[in-house]
Amino acid sequence: MNILILGAGGREHALAWKIAASPLTEKLYCAPGNAGIAREATCVALDLADHAAVIAFCRSNRIDFVIVGPEAPLCAGIVDDLEASGIKAFGPSRAAARLEGSKGFTKDLSRKNGIPTAAYERFTAMAPAKAYLRAHGTPIVIKADGLAAGKGVVVAQDLAEAESAVDMMLGGGLGDAGGEIVIEEFLDGEEASFFALCDGATAIALTTAQDHKRAYDGDKGPNTGGMGAYSPAPNIDEAMSARVMRAIVEPTLKAMQAMGCPYKGVLYAGLMITADGPKLIEYNARFGDPETQVLMLRLKSDLVPALLASRDGMLKSFDLRWYDEPALTVVMAAKGYPGAYARGTVIEGLDAAGKVEGVEIFHAGTKAERGKILANGGRVLDVSAIGKTVREAQARAYEAVSRIRWSEGFCRHDIGWRAVEREKM
Ligand SMILES: Nc1ncnc2c1ncn2[C@@H]1O[C@H](COP(=O)(O)OP(=O)(O)O)[C@@H](O)[C@H]1O
Ligand SMILES: [Mg+2]
Repeated sequence: MNILILGAGGREHALAWKIAASPLTEKLYCAPGNAGIAREATCVALDLADHAAVIAFCRSNRIDFVIVGPEAPLCAGIVDDLEASGIKAFGPSRAAARLEGSKGFTKDLSRKNGIPTAAYERFTAMAPAKAYLRAHGTPIVIKADGLAAGKGVVVAQDLAEAESAVDMMLGGGLGDAGGEIVIEEFLDGEEASFFALCDGATAIALTTAQDHKRAYDGDKGPNTGGMGAYSPAPNIDEAMSARVMRAIVEPTLKAMQAMGCPYKGVLYAGLMITADGPKLIEYNARFGDPETQVLMLRLKSDLVPALLASRDGMLKSFDLRWYDEPALTVVMAAKGYPGAYARGTVIEGLDAAGKVEGVEIFHAGTKAERGKILANGGRVLDVSAIGKTVREAQARAYEAVSRIRWSEGFCRHDIGWRAVEREKM
């Protein structure tokens, strides 16, 4: 098959790496891609917001299957538009992608279907939102309804912080994404990311991961898109996984089907494992980034037939196999990230780093210029490794990091600390 991947980050590089290895793949393209993806696929400069241009490219290059990486094109209906043009696409329709595109939509669906989640209300006006804050007290969580690229959630410790979050969001600080907000109960527990592959009617559990959102060691500093991740999540055993499927994923799928917008694609459930069991924090309608990087290292089976089965409604009795070994990824970011940072700085030593046993280096934001690899984003590299233990995967990843010469970059030095601590017990 001729396959086109849409996206430009480490997630798409990991998908391209896995898909390029499939015997089903004839020609692989990625739009727009990056310097690392260019090793696996032909990169094409397409504007993903221009669906007509994407469709025209698919037609003239006989693309059989499009795999959509990021959430924005999904929420903008790229899958609907491709399918309407007779091009098979992996991912949810625009209506189904509301599970990520509207936090209020997911909260209402959860409430209606008895899916465990934090107590909440939705607001569009300041006065009732603030009355709710005063009635419920802190800690409390304020969330923009729409897509906010990781900047739409405030976990407020006191009333002043909560009120200023309401002012900021409903005052237009996040644009349309914050025109409506959800205010919800603070959940205490340990988080985990849970991935399921869905075909509209059937969901199969993939595997799990945990990530590190804060910029600096010790889980300190500002929130980021993710500074590292590892899989599996040590707090989700088989019994917990079955419980998440039964209590959260399956009722969601059933509800979406009943509403006339069956969910196809990867359903990524952000969970809080609380004393009362797993609770849904949010859904994402796509693979995680950087979680996909560790998922792909652990996936033994061919990914392409699984994604096709999701699109074709054929997941029933489908089986995916995983390596038991854990995998871990360390994100290298440009100094200053998640604030302002420089582009165009030179990265060296990637070949030597990639030779460390068990290591794969996925590019998150790079470009090639005159034979050199240049940083071209906030998150730039995902130095990923598999090992017999998390500790070994971690040691391998950091050995690779030490071989990379990039004075303008930084990374955390403690990715996986929680899982490594558990291994010592
Ligand atoms: N109800 C909650 N209780 C405690 N922490 C929360 C709650 N909701 C969100 N968080 C924290 O905020 C982070 C971001 O929230 P999330 O709903 O995943 O939004 P997004 O990923 O779109 O920014 C979560 O990963 C979690 O750490
Ligand atoms: Mg999240």
